[in-house]
Amino acid sequence: MYQNLIYEVKEGIAYITVNRPKALNALSSEVLDELYEAFTSANNDPLVQIVILTGAGKAFVAGADISQMVNLNTLDGRAMMIKGQNVMNLIETIDKPVIGAINGFALGGGCELAMACDIRIASEKAKFGQPEVNLGIIPGFGGTQRLPRLVGKGMGKYLIMTAEMIDAQEAYRIGLVEKIVPAEELIGTAEKIAKTIMSKAPIAIKAAKLAVNNGISLDVKTGVAYEAEVLVAPFSSEDRIEGMQAFLGKKPAEFKNK
Ligand code: CAA
Repeated sequence: MYQNLIYEVKEGIAYITVNRPKALNALSSEVLDELYEAFTSANNDPLVQIVILTGAGKAFVAGADISQMVNLNTLDGRAMMIKGQNVMNLIETIDKPVIGAINGFALGGGCELAMACDIRIASEKAKFGQPEVNLGIIPGFGGTQRLPRLVGKGMGKYLIMTAEMIDAQEAYRIGLVEKIVPAEELIGTAEKIAKTIMSKAPIAIKAAKLAVNNGISLDVKTGVAYEAEVLVAPFSSEDRIEGMQAFLGKKPAEFKNK
């Protein structure tokens, strides 16, 4: 079904693997279409609670496909950037959490793809960067916006303007990734985190994602007012009663996503 992705669902986890290793998983127009379709499927599938996104081979994703971009006129170039932005926006806003398991190069559109995930776990072999200025452009899949929000305005500008490629340790130091693990432990660690999140009330996880995503661009006063509104859904759920009663009864909660 997919030409450039591997899509599998196992025990509540959708595994989406960008699988175009000969081009270091570069995001061609076709890969972007398939990613959009895969994340839509994961969001709509009641058997999926969480997504793990990774890359096949030595790259997570080495960027937008330069061999396609080189021939685009300005209007088509803009359209391709908007297509990529739509994929990143979708990943960031689906109801379910997305863990990026960054196995290797995450450059340009690949770093932007990683940043669209809710949580990033990096292999020690991962490398990050926004090399677009080397190509005469700027990041176009959301990098000028998401990178400064994650690592701060100064560091964001530094990385974008110098095009420096950084290793996993530096990415961790600046807050671009949440954890670093040996390569062989990458998927296992992502699964462990996925299972921890899956053990919580799904309605609370969905609300947490929404509150953080939509609140981050608000002033604090408006943001906390918004938080109170987002909290209404989990507070009115059966799982809230279950969670609180289980705590008071000193037993584990059994959430039913209701
Ligand atoms: N687009 C198209 N093809 C790419 C690619 C990309 N982004 N990145 C790598 N490839 C291809 C290479 O052309 C090469 O193909 P051939 O075997 O047919 O020659 C193959 O993948 C393997 O790559 P290398 O031989 O270059 O591998 P390496 O190990 O020597 O170097 C690398 C790895 C440092 C990641 C290097 O490939 C590289 O610098 N890639 C480009 C990174 C880049 O500039 N990304 C930003 C793209 S622009 C963008 O993403 C815009 C945006 O914001 C949306």
